[in-house]
Amino acid sequence: MEAELQRIKEEAEAALNAINEADSLEEFRVKYLGRKGMFTALMRNLGQAPKEERPRLGKLANDFKRTLEEVFAAKKSALTDTGSRRADKGRLDLTLPGRAVPFGKRHPVTQVMDEICSIFERLGFTVAEGPDIELDFYNFEGLNIPRHHPARDMHDTFYIDDNVLLRTHTSPMQVRSMEKAAPPLRMIAPGKVYRCDSDITHTPMFHQVEGFLVDRKVSFADLKGILAVFIAKMFDKKTAIRFRPSYFPFTEPSAEVDIACVICHGKGCRVCKQTGWLEILGAGLIDPAVFKKVNYDPEEYSGFAFGLGVERIAMLKYGITDIRLFYENDRRFLKQF
Ligand code: FA5
Repeated sequence: MEAELQRIKEEAEAALNAINEADSLEEFRVKYLGRKGMFTALMRNLGQAPKEERPRLGKLANDFKRTLEEVFAAKKSALTDTGSRRADKGRLDLTLPGRAVPFGKRHPVTQVMDEICSIFERLGFTVAEGPDIELDFYNFEGLNIPRHHPARDMHDTFYIDDNVLLRTHTSPMQVRSMEKAAPPLRMIAPGKVYRCDSDITHTPMFHQVEGFLVDRKVSFADLKGILAVFIAKMFDKKTAIRFRPSYFPFTEPSAEVDIACVICHGKGCRVCKQTGWLEILGAGLIDPAVFKKVNYDPEEYSGFAFGLGVERIAMLKYGITDIRLFYENDRRFLKQF
C-alpha cells in the first residue's frame, strides 16, 4: 500500500511537471485530486490495510495529497499569471452582459440636406456632385464674375493659388453640368462650400444645395412655383415667404428669398437681426452671359437657378438660435435630432 502511494505520488508529480498550459491543469486535478480521483480511491482502500498500519498510512496519504495540492496551486498561478492568452481566456466570464454600444445618428445638417434633396427628386430633379476644391473658372469666370469684378468681394474666398480655390458656392455645378449636357436640364447639386465668415448665422464651412432648370420658355413664375412647393413641403404650409430683389452676376433678374423667422414668428429677434425674416436662398433667371460660356443659345433656351443655405433651413426647422452649434460636436446638442 505504501509502495502504491509512493508510485502514485511520483507519477502525479511527473505529470504536473510536464504540464505547460492552463487547460491541462483541470484534467490533472480531476485525475489525481478530484472526488473520484486516484488519491481519494486510495484513501478508500485504506480500510483493507492491517488495523495497526491504518493511522500511519492515512497520515502519509494526507501528507502526499497536501504536498501535491500545494505544488498544483503554485503551478496554476504561474500558468495563469504568465499572461498567456489562452490562460486569460479561461478567466473571461462569458455570462456577463455585453457593454452596450450607443447608436450613432445622422448629423442634423445631413438629415436636412437629405430631406431637401428628396423633395426636389420628387419634383423630377436629378442629383449631381462636384469638387470642393474648384477652379477659378467654374467658381467665378464661367458665372460671369471676371477677375476684379466687385461681386468677388461678396464671397470672402479661401484661395489655394491664383487659379484654384475652395468653392464659395455650389453654383459652379451649373457651369460644369451645362458644359456636359444639352438642355433640357433639371438638376440639384448639394455640397460643402467655404467662406471666410463667422457669426451666429455664418460659419466658414457650410452647405448649399444648388438647383437649376433649363428648357424652352422657362419663366420667373416657374421658379416661384417650384420654390413655393419646396418651402411648403419643408416647413408648414402657412410659412410666409417673400422674394426680395437682389443681384447676382449669373442671374437676371435676381432675388433673395426669406421666410418668416420661426424663432420670433416675425416679431424680430437676435437671429433675424430684428427684421422678422431670415434669408434662406438666392435665385434668379440664368443670365444669357452664362449660357454663352457653355454654348447654349440664349435665344432658344431660358432657365432658372437657386442656391439655398442648408444650415439656415435646419436652424429654422429646429428653432436653433446659433449656427455654430452644428459644428461644436456637443453630443447633448446632437442627440436631440
Ligand atoms: C450664393 O451663394 C449664390 N450662389 C446663390 C444663387 C444660386 C443665386 C443660383 C442665384 C442663382 P449667397 O451668397 O446669398 O448666394 O448664399 C446663398 C445662401 O447660403 C444664403 O441665402 C444663406 O442661406 C447661405 N449662406 C451664405 N453664407 C453663409 C455662411 N457663411 N454660413 C451659413 N450659411 C450661409
